[in-house]
Amino acid sequence: MHDYDLLVVGSANADLVIGVDRRPGPGETVLGSDLAVHPGGKGANQAAAAARLGARTALLARVGDDAHGRLLLESQRSAGVDTVGVLAGGAPTGVALITVDPSGDNSIVVSPGANARLTPEDVRAAASLFHASRVVSVQLEIPPETVAEVVRNVAPGSRLVLNPSPPAPLPAEVLAACDPLVVNEHEARFILGGPADGSAGNSPGAAGAAGAAAGPAADDGSPEEWARALLSLGPRSVVVTLGAEGALVSAGGDCVRVPSVRVSAVDTTGAGDAFTAALAWRLGRGEDLETAAAFAVRVGAAAVTKEGAQASFPTMEEIKAL
Ligand code: RIB
Repeated sequence: MHDYDLLVVGSANADLVIGVDRRPGPGETVLGSDLAVHPGGKGANQAAAAARLGARTALLARVGDDAHGRLLLESQRSAGVDTVGVLAGGAPTGVALITVDPSGDNSIVVSPGANARLTPEDVRAAASLFHASRVVSVQLEIPPETVAEVVRNVAPGSRLVLNPSPPAPLPAEVLAACDPLVVNEHEARFILGGPADGSAGNSPGAAGAAGAAAGPAADDGSPEEWARALLSLGPRSVVVTLGAEGALVSAGGDCVRVPSVRVSAVDTTGAGDAFTAALAWRLGRGEDLETAAAFAVRVGAAAVTKEGAQASFPTMEEIKAL
């Protein structure tokens, strides 16, 4: 009945990556490795990760009519993603400036470029993709009004997965559609940084300082407390990713921890995207949240063992061997 297991709507960036011994402080210059250019962007990463696992995947995104755009299209096609929804032109392809330290941790600055030109009209024009997709996954490297239009276009009976990265205020309409809302610690703290009643819990004024403000579970508390507080804002379910510790899932009153597998981290870039893509795909196949997350943590773990984002994403064979 559905042509696609997963439709990803989101960003596509060229990742310009430099390895550093340590990241520079304000006003400081450090020397790093040779520059590497990888296909990236949270949307393109999710689509590539799902397709490499075997999911029938489509991407709705915008790239520039330039060499970086062609790099991204080539990467999507070689992963097996249907790129019929990838639009070209309007601005240069988005770029992410990434430093990776010896522990594999990264810092990222994104210039959105064409991603900022993916409009609500582009979403409406892709109605046939939405109707053909079992699950729709979206992130926040595209304009907020486009994200809201995505939510409105999810077909009846299909499911929305949202990773609010980079974190930004989310309207109640968007929060209420998430099944699940997938957050890491930073994103959880940001979204919980508003008034205790959650009514304007992530209005720009309340939560504009990322992860800072006054919510009851924003400054400390356990991931279980964050999950419960997030659920009170409206999502149907919540997943909190915990890095090397795995993830926590909650679809109601109960919170369940899902442990990860131990691996040696080389580069964490894109691991969260691979996790979310795997989760979304398996939920669409009918698995419950805990079972889907148990698969997704293995995919995320595999993705940190190699350099780059899309280049690090595993096949099913690699997951079985992990
Ligand atoms: O989540 C990792 C991604 O974030 C990178 O590929 C980079 O492009 C930024 O979007």
